[in-house]
Amino acid sequence: MPTILVLHGPNLNLLGGREAEHYGTDTLEAIDTRLEAAGRKAGMEVKSFQSNSEAELVDRVQAAKSDGTSFIVINPAAFTHTSVALRDALSAVRIPFIEVHLSNVHAREPFRRHSYFSDLASGVIVGFGPLGYELALEAAIRSIRKANP
Ligand code: DQA
Repeated sequence: MPTILVLHGPNLNLLGGREAEHYGTDTLEAIDTRLEAAGRKAGMEVKSFQSNSEAELVDRVQAAKSDGTSFIVINPAAFTHTSVALRDALSAVRIPFIEVHLSNVHAREPFRRHSYFSDLASGVIVGFGPLGYELALEAAIRSIRKANP
């Protein structure tokens, strides 16, 4: 069964109570539960991992190289704008990924407009709240199916 890894960066564990005007009211657990169910329906396994630590996220991406992960959906959160290390990890493992942001980062502070990930990503989804993860998962599922007809 193909596996899709969903990675959530720092402070996304606070979803549900964190700046609802930017990030909505769903908890991370609710988002992950929906993604797992959507994956199951498509005959794929969805594994989620959240960390506030850059090192743990880098380690998880490195582990994905040998644990059968076919595709990654990632919201690097604040690391989007700072982390060459996480970018390099994704580049090194050569697993295709989609970048997701709940908020429209282009309509906020100027420092949020730059991403260390977008040029490597298969695609980027911003501004649709939690729905963005589901859209990314659907795109990942279609991409896996296209590669394995
Ligand atoms: C975010 C946008 C980032 O700028 C911010 O640091 C986050 C969340 C988003 O999902 O909109 O933590 O990635």
